[in-house]
Amino acid sequence: MAFAIGTLLAGPLSAAEKKDSRQELMQDMRTMLNAMEQIQHGGFYSSSEEMKAGVEKLQKTLKSLESEEVKVILPKDQAYAYKFAQKTASMLRLYSDDMIVSIEAGRIDDALEDYSQLLRQCTSCHTRIRNW
Ligand code: HEC
Repeated sequence: MAFAIGTLLAGPLSAAEKKDSRQELMQDMRTMLNAMEQIQHGGFYSSSEEMKAGVEKLQKTLKSLESEEVKVILPKDQAYAYKFAQKTASMLRLYSDDMIVSIEAGRIDDALEDYSQLLRQCTSCHTRIRNW
């Protein structure tokens, strides 16, 4: 906590701190991929518990995507990139919340529909923002 406040007071991020948050975001990306695989695996094996565990894992990573932190991985020359990132992050939040509700209600077809919406958010940002 003290460290966090210190970082806030220190003002703009130093190059080293930027590098750290970049690595953290990339770690979150890998965790999201892992979570998506877990959800898919759970879906194929009809394990709602496994699907739910995957959604919960995904949601833990959303905070950095929702915050200004995400800017370190976005291109600086594209003004819309941050707005777009916020939009995809809120869609990920929305569909993952809905997915939990669907799983708990035993509506697996709805849960799988949520899954494909989640996947769409990943690819949508990657094709637009990531320079492939
Ligand atoms: C707001 C935009 C955005 C969204 C949404 C997004 N990503 Fe990414 N992701 C990126 C960017 C940008 C990179 C590449 C950064 C770079 O290489 O410079 C990336 C890279 C990755 C990587 C490679 C990580 C590495 O180790 O190099 C994986 C895996 C990944 N994303 C998975 C996902 C998954 C799964 C989702 C959806 C649940 C997702 N991403 C959603 C922007 C996004």
